[in-house]
Amino acid sequence: MNRCEIAPPLGGLRGEVTIPGDKSVSHRAVIFSSLAEGTSSIGNFLCGEDNFRTVAAFRRMGVSIQEKGDNHLVIEGRGLEGLLEPDDVVDCGNSGTTMRLLTGLLAAQPFFSVLTGDQYLRKRPMKRVVKPLSGMGALIWGRAQGEYPPLAIHGGRLQPIAYDSPIASAQVKSALLLAGLFCDGVTTVREPFLSRDHTERMLPCFGAELRTVDKGVAVTGRPRLKACDLTVPGDISSAAFFMVAALIVPRSELLIRNVGVNPTRDGIIEALRRMGGDLQLVDERLAGGEPVADVLVRGSRLKGIDIGGALIPRMIDEIPVFSVAAACAEGTTIIRDAQELRVKETDRIAAMTAELTRLGALIEARPDGMVINGRERLTGGKVLSHGDHRIAMSLAVAGLGAASPVEVEDIDCTATSFPGFWVLLGRLAGFQGK
Ligand code: S3P
Repeated sequence: MNRCEIAPPLGGLRGEVTIPGDKSVSHRAVIFSSLAEGTSSIGNFLCGEDNFRTVAAFRRMGVSIQEKGDNHLVIEGRGLEGLLEPDDVVDCGNSGTTMRLLTGLLAAQPFFSVLTGDQYLRKRPMKRVVKPLSGMGALIWGRAQGEYPPLAIHGGRLQPIAYDSPIASAQVKSALLLAGLFCDGVTTVREPFLSRDHTERMLPCFGAELRTVDKGVAVTGRPRLKACDLTVPGDISSAAFFMVAALIVPRSELLIRNVGVNPTRDGIIEALRRMGGDLQLVDERLAGGEPVADVLVRGSRLKGIDIGGALIPRMIDEIPVFSVAAACAEGTTIIRDAQELRVKETDRIAAMTAELTRLGALIEARPDGMVINGRERLTGGKVLSHGDHRIAMSLAVAGLGAASPVEVEDIDCTATSFPGFWVLLGRLAGFQGK
């Protein structure tokens, strides 16, 4: 079955859900453990397709990674200088994080490697990492002067750089910090707004020396990385689908357990609260260097708001589902400064505008965002995921706010970041999930 029909629920969404581990944190845990000396243990790893692309890449470079069941990985790191040349092309699938972070890492290895990806990833821009890495002395080739994958990387010795990134991107920042680990001296990355800081939080746990500088971060090259045991927090990007679902379905009261609420990622909670959403953080705690909480969400009457600026990188992956909340709110919502959405797994501004329009939403695409005029209820109909996991899940949530059934087509892509999504949503909302 590659489609799912969502019928409007009869009552509120009530009870508790636990969402899977964070995708960004899971990628980094595999990468840093592979570069460390000794055996690392990673709990609550996200067993999604994207993360297994990173696992497969490091296995190809000689790293032993065992799956112990229950989302637990055991990784025998090979040390900073221990990776082996992959003997075939490394396929990053749909995963931009795998490709961009590995480009930084591989540019500094004493061997040759080639990275490719699926039809979506091969259309995504890579110059944002290729250009600064070239400034460090990296030799990287790709289609359209290094813009599009496949990328061929002739690894070698790099010089440190002080780079002012024109975009707030954790993938760019992390690619350069990874390359910087292999340089003599200090590599500095600055960005216009702070992007997610999981790399900065996790690398010191493995023994790397990082410090914050004005609007940026600096890493000292050639550390000895030591194995570390980590537990990955639940993914706020996955939790966001349930937050919006519980807000737009009247009489809901849902506790979402173990959500990562890192301040560089919690923009969706701030935005939904500003719309009048009732979201409370319960039992705030730290897990593996990351802030975590349970989030209690109650059905709320939402009103339109304006968002832009520094809030956008803090909720970039949640804007598709935020646009669903806006479509069900009273009044107008304006999303600005979100042009990065155009180069995600798909053009998410175009995709959400097209699909929500099919459900009767009053929505206009802009080059850097959307203008959404909310209405009481969306209408039913057939919608497409565009092969993008977050579009598929956002449209499923839209189905809960519609007056009649919504059929979402091409939904297998949700395995990228959220295996089990359809069963979990179906259990709560009373439809048959996959
Ligand atoms: C990610 C960074 C973000 C985000 C992506 C994951 C990461 O992308 O959208 O899903 O793990 O570093 P950018 O770095 O392009 O902002």
